[in-house]
Amino acid sequence: MTDGASVLNGVNFEVGRHDLRQSRLTTEPIDVAAAVAAGKAVLALDHFALTANNITYAAFGDQMSYWDFFPAAEGFGRIPVWGFADVVASGAEGLAVGERIYGYFPMSSHLVVEPGRLSPKRFVDLSEHRKNLPPVYNVYERVAHDPAYSRTGESAQMILKPLVVTSFLIADFLEDNGFFGARQVLVSSASSKTSLGLAFCLKRLAARDVAVVGLTSPGNRAFVEEVGYFDRVVTYDAIGGLDATVASVYVDMAGSAAVLTRVHERFADRLVYSCRVGGTHWEGLAGRMDLPGARPKFFFAPDQIAKRHGDWGPGGLEQRFAGLWTELSASVDSWLKVEDHHGPAAIKAAYHDTLEGRVSPATGLIMSLKP
Ligand SMILES: NC(=O)c1ccc[n+]([C@@H]2O[C@H](COP(=O)([O-])OP(=O)(O)OC[C@H]3O[C@@H](n4cnc5c(N)ncnc54)[C@H](OP(=O)(O)O)[C@@H]3O)[C@@H](O)[C@H]2O)c1
Repeated sequence: MTDGASVLNGVNFEVGRHDLRQSRLTTEPIDVAAAVAAGKAVLALDHFALTANNITYAAFGDQMSYWDFFPAAEGFGRIPVWGFADVVASGAEGLAVGERIYGYFPMSSHLVVEPGRLSPKRFVDLSEHRKNLPPVYNVYERVAHDPAYSRTGESAQMILKPLVVTSFLIADFLEDNGFFGARQVLVSSASSKTSLGLAFCLKRLAARDVAVVGLTSPGNRAFVEEVGYFDRVVTYDAIGGLDATVASVYVDMAGSAAVLTRVHERFADRLVYSCRVGGTHWEGLAGRMDLPGARPKFFFAPDQIAKRHGDWGPGGLEQRFAGLWTELSASVDSWLKVEDHHGPAAIKAAYHDTLEGRVSPATGLIMSLKP
């Protein structure tokens, strides 16, 4: 089944794997007839979200195999993004041309997938090169069967859902562990959508009186205060003025060695848990460091998912997340400004702005390679 041409002209946005400031557009023919004959499907990417999270995929591209999802020529990489696509050709039994799909894509006009394990709600890309990669990224949702889906909700889903699932799981993990005895949670890159989502979830899940303090750069302080999800907002240069007697947890979204050191040195043995999550400050990332206080530990979402599936049974976690998602997606209307940009030149500009931290935290970028 196809909707027309037997060879398509694919367009890709690529970056230098070891120099993220290098970027280029490439084209390649996609042999639709061969893909269909082999039982594959061709997805045409309609639009996708771009945030610091995608830059972090690139910064950790080698270390965490993010370059391996969508291979490019030697020295270059295709950064993964979350987006919506349409099936434009399909040789896969049960997957029709015209279906709308949500999932993990390169910043490319098209993606050829090998659909398998089809159910009404989803399929898995069984392409050989993806077999050993984390399964969560290989799942494609068939939106016609998602009762929560709406066309108008696509932007919020692309921009926020992949981020706030993690926010929710971190909040749940901390609450589940009694906040390790802490009375406050410090969160870096407080202006990021993931950190704002975390503050939102913490305020709803925290059974105890735990203060949620956002750490941010001076230029983003007013924005974080206006959103109002954090109890307090402190700039990075004022960490030395925080009350170091309060038992604290640090959730590190910035990944910055300088901020991590400042927090650990300030709180020392009153820092009862140090949770590493993100790397928005991708140029000054912390490695393994000998610091006072709890040893920094990477957050591994699948562990908390597995624990809660055990605690709550099938669907329990999903149901709790769905409740928070409904509340959060209504709340973001007051501060999230979605911007739609079209065409390869716009993607290049938006990528470099995101890389250099020039995008306002209030902005949610939706990009499309289509003119
Ligand atoms: N491990 C996981 O499973 C997981 C899941 C979701 C997200 N995350 C991580 O959470 C982090 C936040 O992602 P997001 O998409 O929510 O971010 P976002 O909303 O795009 O965050 C923007 C903020 O990040 C900081 N920032 C961005 N670029 C910067 C630069 N070049 N230099 C310095 N600061 C910069 C600034 O915050 P400040 O001024 O406040 O520092 C900026 O306001 C990412 O590192 C992401 O990878 C991890």
